[in-house]
Amino acid sequence: MSSPNGTISDAFVFFGASGDLAYKQIFPALYGLVRDEGLDIPITGVARTEWTLDEFKKRAEDSVKAHGGDVKDEAFKKLLSLLHYVPGDYADPKVFAELRKQLGDAKSPLHYLAIPPFLFSEVAGQLANSGCADNARLVVEKPFGRDRQSAQELSDILDKYFPEKHIFRIDHYLGKEPVQNILYTRFANSIFEPLWNRNHVRSIQITMAENFGVQDRGAFYDGAGAIRDVLQNHMLQILASLTMDPPTGQEHEAIRDRKASLLKSVRPLDAHHVVRGQYQGYQKVPGVRPGSTVETYAAAKLFIDSWRWEGVPIFIRTGKCLPVTVAEAVVQFKKPPRETFGEIEAIGCGHMRFRIQPDVAIALGTRVKVPGDRMIGDDVELVLTRQPGVDKPPYQRLLGDAMDGISDLFTRQDIVDAEWRIVENVLDNVTPLYAYEPDTWGPSEAEQLFGSDGRWLNPSPK
Ligand code: BG6
Repeated sequence: MSSPNGTISDAFVFFGASGDLAYKQIFPALYGLVRDEGLDIPITGVARTEWTLDEFKKRAEDSVKAHGGDVKDEAFKKLLSLLHYVPGDYADPKVFAELRKQLGDAKSPLHYLAIPPFLFSEVAGQLANSGCADNARLVVEKPFGRDRQSAQELSDILDKYFPEKHIFRIDHYLGKEPVQNILYTRFANSIFEPLWNRNHVRSIQITMAENFGVQDRGAFYDGAGAIRDVLQNHMLQILASLTMDPPTGQEHEAIRDRKASLLKSVRPLDAHHVVRGQYQGYQKVPGVRPGSTVETYAAAKLFIDSWRWEGVPIFIRTGKCLPVTVAEAVVQFKKPPRETFGEIEAIGCGHMRFRIQPDVAIALGTRVKVPGDRMIGDDVELVLTRQPGVDKPPYQRLLGDAMDGISDLFTRQDIVDAEWRIVENVLDNVTPLYAYEPDTWGPSEAEQLFGSDGRWLNPSPK
C-alpha cells in the first residue's frame, strides 16, 4: 500500500545536529542505513555549536558506539566520509547560503528539523529564501504544537514553504514493527474481525510504562508532561491501530484515512475520566520548576462514538518511574452470558494481548478445563508469536522511508488535529495531580476509572 512519491532524496540535512535526538537516534539510524541499506548521499549536520568537522565526526563516533554500533567497520568509515557540518545561528542567512553551497548539485534534499518547534518557522523560512527548500522534503519531530490551535498554526507555517506531500511528521511508534503487526494481524486474518466490536469486546486497555524518570530532559519535560509527550501521540496511534476499520480500496492513503476517521470519532476526554500523577522526586530533577504541577503519569478512560465501539470503555495509561518498562495492549472479551459450571472464582473473560516492547508477543487468552473430575478451569494463553525484540530501530525505518518518499508510517496533519481534539479539555491543570512513589503503578486513584468494568492488568516484565 505504499507508493514512493517522486524522487529519492539525494542529500540529507539535519538541524539540531549537536543535540540529544541526534545523539540518541539520528546518528545510529544513519549508521544503520549505510550498513544495511547502502545509504550513499551527502549528510550535513547543522547546529549552533561551533564544532569543526572533526569534532562533529567525533560526536557521530561517540553516538554510534554508545548505541551498540561497530565504529571499526566499513559502514562507519563510509558514514564518516559522507558527513559535513555547518555551524551557526538559525537566524543568520549566511548559514543557509553555506548550506546551499554544501548541497552542491543535490536536486531533492531532505531536511530534518530535530529542533524545538519554536524554531520551525525560522528554519523553514530560511530554507525557502536560500533556495534549499526547492523540491525538498521536510521531516519534523513531535511535539506538533502544544495544543490544537498551536498545532494548526505550526502546520500553516510549514504549508507556506513545503507542499503537504513533502512534509513527513514523525511519531516513532509508527515505525515500530509490533505496532505495524497489530494492523497486520487484524487485517491479514478473517477470524478476528467478527469479534472486534461492542458485541464481543468488553473493554480495551493500553499500558505504556517506563521504569525510569525524566533523566536529563527536565526542562523539556516540564514544559510538556505525560499527556502531551506520549498520550496525545504514541498511545493514540496504538489505540487507532487496534480499533480502526479495515482499510478499503487500493489508495496508499487508505490506512491513514481510516485512522483519521477513527480518531475523529473518539469522544474528547472528560476531566472525570483522567487521573494525573507525579512521581516523588520529580521536582528535584534539574530543569523542573519548583512546585511544578506537570504530570509524569496519566491514565484515562475513553469512548469511541461509532456503531462498532459504542459503550466499550478504553483505558490507557502511561508513566515514568513505574515498576517496569513495557508497552502492551489487551482487548478483553465479554464473559459468557452465564456461568455454566458454577465456578467459585470469577472466571476470566478471554482476551487478545499485543505486547509491543521490550519483547514482542501476540497472544489469545482463553479458559480451559483443568484435568480431573471437576468442571473447573484455568486461564491460559495461546501465544501466536513471540519475538525477542525489535529488529530495525524505528528511526532507521522512518528516515529511510522519508528519503524514499514513502509516507505511510508518518502522521498527517488531520490525524494530529484529531489527537489534540481528544486531549485538549484535559491539558494542564484541569484535573487534580496525585503524588506516587517511584516503582509503583502510579496513583491508586487510577483504579477508580474502572468502576465495575474490571481493573488494570499490570504487564509482567518478561
Ligand atoms: C518519546 C517521549 O516520544 O518516547 C519520551 O518523548 C519517551 O518521554 C519515549 O520516553 C518512549 O519511546 P520508546 O520507543 O523508548 O518507547
